[in-house]
Amino acid sequence: MMFPRIRCIFPLLPLLFNLCSAAHTIFANSSLSGKQIITSSGGNFVLGFFAPGNSDRYYVGIWYGKIPKLTSVWVANRETPVADPSTSVFKISTDGNLVLLDSSNALVWSTDANTTTNSTVAMLLDSGNLQLCDASNPSRVVWQSMDHPTDTWLPGGRLGLNKLTGVSQRLTAWKNNDDPTPGIFNLELDPNGTSQYFIIWNSTYSYWTSGTWNGQLQIFSHVPEMRSNYNYDFQYFNNSVENYFNYSMKSSAIISRFVMDVDGRIKQLTWLDDKQLWTLFWQKPDKPCLVHSLCGAFGSCNENAMPICQCVKGFRVRSQSDWDLGDQSGGCTRNTPLQCVDRAHLSNSQRDKFLAMDNMRLPVNSQTLNGIGRDEDCKLACLNNCSCTAYSFSGSRCSVWHGELFNLQDQFDESGASTLQLRLAASELSNPRSNKTLVTWAVASAAAAVVASLALILFVTWRRRRSRLMGESKAVGSGIVPFRYSELRHATKNFSHRLGGGGFGSVFKGSFPNSTAIAVKRLEALRQGEKQFRTEVGTIGTIQHVNLVRLIGFCSEGANRLLVYEFMPKGSLDTHLFSASATVLNWKTRYQIAVGTARGLTYLHEQCRDCIIHCDIKPENILLDDSLTPKLSDFGLAKLMGRDFSRVLTTMRGTRGYLAPEMITGLPITAKADVYSYGMMLFEIVSGRRNLQEKTEEGNTAGFFPTLVFSKLMEKNIGSLLDQRLEGDADLEELNRVCKLACWCVQDNEICRSTMGQVLQVLEGFLEVSMPPIPRSLQLLTETPENINFFYQSLSANQGSQSSSDTPSGWQTRSSTTNNSSA
Ligand SMILES: *[C@@H]1O[C@H](CO)[C@@H](O)[C@H](O)[C@H]1NC(C)=O
Ligand SMILES: *[C@@H]1O[C@H](CO)[C@@H](O)[C@H](O)[C@H]1NC(C)=O
Ligand SMILES: *[C@@H]1O[C@H](CO)[C@@H](O)[C@H](O)[C@H]1NC(C)=O
Ligand SMILES: *[C@@H]1O[C@H](CO)[C@@H](O)[C@H](O)[C@H]1NC(C)=O
Ligand SMILES: *[C@@H]1O[C@H](CO)[C@@H](O)[C@H](O)[C@H]1NC(C)=O
Ligand SMILES: *[C@@H]1O[C@H](CO)[C@@H](O)[C@H](O)[C@H]1NC(C)=O
Ligand SMILES: *[C@@H]1O[C@H](CO)[C@@H](O)[C@H](O)[C@H]1NC(C)=O
Ligand SMILES: *[C@@H]1O[C@H](CO)[C@@H](O)[C@H](O)[C@H]1NC(C)=O
Repeated sequence: MMFPRIRCIFPLLPLLFNLCSAAHTIFANSSLSGKQIITSSGGNFVLGFFAPGNSDRYYVGIWYGKIPKLTSVWVANRETPVADPSTSVFKISTDGNLVLLDSSNALVWSTDANTTTNSTVAMLLDSGNLQLCDASNPSRVVWQSMDHPTDTWLPGGRLGLNKLTGVSQRLTAWKNNDDPTPGIFNLELDPNGTSQYFIIWNSTYSYWTSGTWNGQLQIFSHVPEMRSNYNYDFQYFNNSVENYFNYSMKSSAIISRFVMDVDGRIKQLTWLDDKQLWTLFWQKPDKPCLVHSLCGAFGSCNENAMPICQCVKGFRVRSQSDWDLGDQSGGCTRNTPLQCVDRAHLSNSQRDKFLAMDNMRLPVNSQTLNGIGRDEDCKLACLNNCSCTAYSFSGSRCSVWHGELFNLQDQFDESGASTLQLRLAASELSNPRSNKTLVTWAVASAAAAVVASLALILFVTWRRRRSRLMGESKAVGSGIVPFRYSELRHATKNFSHRLGGGGFGSVFKGSFPNSTAIAVKRLEALRQGEKQFRTEVGTIGTIQHVNLVRLIGFCSEGANRLLVYEFMPKGSLDTHLFSASATVLNWKTRYQIAVGTARGLTYLHEQCRDCIIHCDIKPENILLDDSLTPKLSDFGLAKLMGRDFSRVLTTMRGTRGYLAPEMITGLPITAKADVYSYGMMLFEIVSGRRNLQEKTEEGNTAGFFPTLVFSKLMEKNIGSLLDQRLEGDADLEELNRVCKLACWCVQDNEICRSTMGQVLQVLEGFLEVSMPPIPRSLQLLTETPENINFFYQSLSANQGSQSSSDTPSGWQTRSSTTNNSSA
């Protein structure tokens, strides 16, 4: 079967020359220099000279024409920048190729196509493809940029393998954020001809695979997330000559791209016009430390740290400027050389020492020494070889490493974590020289410590007093204010005005002397040390967003643990939705509450430093301010409460109906648990009643609302789902969207649920949702559930069978040409 090449869009090219200004075409007699650009006919893409970041290196590239943030999708001369674009020329050369000449007229870059004619034109298409065509026969494409992608895969482009020549179209990450030079991470189709992509480090080592293509589900087996993106069509083509994938967007209004990023991960990004930013759909591998050797030699990856890469003790960053630009591959260099020569002449204290590093993922390329049964012997074996840099002895197995150490990871809590003994020069390990100096040192440092802590105490007292003197208005500033218990007791009039409460404690209304209203949450049964509490509170305090209730301060005195929040005058969403006495919220407000809540959650999940799972999304935790803007409360408590949290939740009345199946069954919880709860809440926003309604007074149950939604969606009769008090006054398009979306959120299998970011995009109208499948747990449920327990039993039963078959294992390694053997 023959597939035609993509054609130049305009077969009557010569005619067109006269029709328009031809700003999207480079002719034999025209060229680009300096600030000159050509723009594709619809304005989607622009080609010209650009300098990435703050550099003064110029490249010819293609970028988005309708996005203010310069986002390049293709670079011609990635390895050979020019210094001065005004004297450089991008043009068609006498042999018909497109070339870039620098100031001294030297050839910097060429399309290097096998041209049979010297009469060609280059034009930029609205798809972002730059095509070089035969001027007399424009349907003959001589060369096109989409066949030579750089780090970006655009809709319409293909990424494949020519099985005869072995040449593949691969994405190669930039070297760093400011430098398009090919970096060390590649995404390419399996050179063996299967349908899976690999990400390959330095052309030698593959650390991730997409898994093979499942045409039926339209996913790669290790990227199940693709299933929840209904906006693109992927197509796989395979014959004896070539195989490739291409994709297109269902709606041309959506601007989306795949990019092989500097951090070694493949990402799918979509442009959000109203927020003016790129939003991440998914990235693989999903954890940064799964990227092979991300932190370079002697660098250690730590997912809980910022920055993620750090040099191990005794080493320093080799090139700070590269690290700052996101390229850590240069790794770290030793501060003090090892004392290897003339070991016999060294006193014990001068000999190299070993630093024990616990909970490490061990570096790659170890050598196992046989016949060694003691830690001490393993250590000696390493010490006696100058090139040995580390050893590890565990389970009577002696492993040693020679030369540079790659792929270290700190605080590694998966199986395979072990203690690494890192070899360092003696002086790196602060070992006292003699007992006498030790004593002097101890005395001196003790004295210093006393002085320092005195000073600290004085300072803190002064600060506290000062902050109190400066008035409570300071409390509303950015910092989190520590309060005395007595102050809060006073502010809340001895905890007299109770606003509400749940399993973690009650909330009281209070006010400061300057009449700022506050809400004080008294945490109960918190078995946590003061220090840890302060740390967690500090973290929660840094999280600020319009759709999150702001933490103002805290109190930690004796056994008392209190949190002070801004006061929300309109109370929580449940009273507005379910209480008969409340004014009915109109549809527009409900929709805005859904959107605002989704924004807050998206922020928690995807945009703050550490992903925060709320774990307790329900109308009671959505507070409303004066203008009915929703604000999430109680975020960060799950972490604060630790293990107790899930115990309290699962036993708490009024919470069960929102809990994702995995929370009940005790499986690991991800951000998707919040998506489930959010979905359950969406149903209630639509219906204005609890999903799990108690028997009504007449004795008949109204049915489990989510099940009803599924069936009404099938019948295309969603109007009947709307809260009757609204009397049909709602935007049906939005209603339909919300119903479908909610159904996607409450899928049994978390993989099938949308992410919070996607939820937001759907609500904002950027994404469309297809018809959701009915989760098995709901299918099992009859129209009139006898009780909630049956519902959850069915979930548990269902969950077990699913998790085994459908679990993605994004982390697959493949060994190819040269790897893993000895150093
Ligand atoms: C360049 O060449 C095209 C077609 O060959 C012609 O139509 C156009 O007038 C020329 N432009 C200039 C500035 O010479
Ligand atoms: C193309 O080649 C022909 C013959 O080789 C030559 O006469 C002509 O000038 C060339 N045209 C261009 C634009 O270089
Ligand atoms: C260049 O094109 C000619 C004619 O189409 C063909 O015979 C030749 O093999 C090609 N050369 C290369 C290197 O592709
Ligand atoms: C590709 O095929 C070769 C030879 O059959 C095999 O050794 C190699 O492991 C294969 N590579 C992958 C990634 O499957
Ligand atoms: C990548 O491989 C090349 C050649 O095989 C080697 O010189 C280079 O040091 C490697 N890069 C890193 C970061 O290890
Ligand atoms: C791809 O095509 C080749 C040749 O037609 C065939 O041998 C191979 O099995 C195909 N691979 C897949 C995964 O279909
Ligand atoms: C993929 O490429 C083929 C051949 O060029 C084309 O027919 C098909 O429409 C493309 N599919 C998508 C999804 O872009
Ligand atoms: C040190 O170890 C390396 C790598 O195993 C080996 O090639 C070398 O011969 C050893 N040197 C000594 C002195 O044993």
